[in-house]
Amino acid sequence: MKYDIANRLVWFKGELINVNDAKINVLAPTSQFGLNVFEGVPGYWNEQRGQLYMFRLDDHYNRLMKSARLLQIDCPFTKEELKTALTDVVKANDYRENISVRQTLFVEGFGSWGSSDPVNMFVAPIPKGKMSAEYNKKGLNCCITSWRRISDTTLSPRIKCGANYINSRMGQREALRNGYDTCIFLNEAGKVSEGPGSCLFMVKNGELITPKLTDSVLESITRDTVIKIARNALGLKVTERSVDRTELYTCDEAFLCGSAMEITPVISVDGYTVANGETGKLTGSLHKTYLEIALGEREEYADWVTGIYN
Ligand SMILES: Cc1ncc(COP(=O)(O)O)c(C=O)c1O
Repeated sequence: MKYDIANRLVWFKGELINVNDAKINVLAPTSQFGLNVFEGVPGYWNEQRGQLYMFRLDDHYNRLMKSARLLQIDCPFTKEELKTALTDVVKANDYRENISVRQTLFVEGFGSWGSSDPVNMFVAPIPKGKMSAEYNKKGLNCCITSWRRISDTTLSPRIKCGANYINSRMGQREALRNGYDTCIFLNEAGKVSEGPGSCLFMVKNGELITPKLTDSVLESITRDTVIKIARNALGLKVTERSVDRTELYTCDEAFLCGSAMEITPVISVDGYTVANGETGKLTGSLHKTYLEIALGEREEYADWVTGIYN
């Protein structure tokens, strides 16, 4: 049965319960210090096939386990158990629309930021229409934020943990205060890194360019998807290298990408118009191909999608 969003079911400590009944104490390290690691797994509803496809599930779980390992949080679940929890909660809510599933391992109890247990999990589906505004825009007016992206020498952006998003928040709030949709961070070396919840690509003379994974970016699954689609499906040249801020002002096209954002055109950076303020040709082709794959319509990428309903 379908529940309204305020009463949807979540998987919480092994049970499917109303979201309002899922409670964590205020002193838990996850509540106080953001001591949790998580994934946002996108799911695409294919109306014709009556199927909801989760995208690159295994890759999301590999990253979740890597984040947990880096923070020394023991993941008490196997990959199969992670998958079963997600499948059960989506089915229980009977979602037949595009969704994102938040799957979070958290440290609770009454310890502190140095605690390693007890570890538990919640899994909560979020209908796509209910996500943050910047994830549902057609084109983004971006600024370079004055805040630097966290780095591997302080809080590694490679770890997808709650606490890292406070850096994202600082950039995003600055962008909104100044009338932009979102921001792009520079890293400590002054090179372009990523958005607050997305990775960045630009197009120059038909070549796709994105900052290296060692330039303070999350090891994004969408970034990897874009690189593979661009090379294999569209035959484009893709280069991972450091990017200067001023290159963004003069590039042919640019876009931000992520599980929530998909592939969203950047139409200006610091007031410099990009791609005449429209969706660039390659950006549009990449997004179209991405959606076909995520909807399970490209046989050659069938192992990237997992159907929820039998
Ligand atoms: C900081 C940051 N960069 C990039 C991404 C994109 O990652 P993915 O494509 O795995 O969703 C995200 C999204 O989670 C993010 O928060």
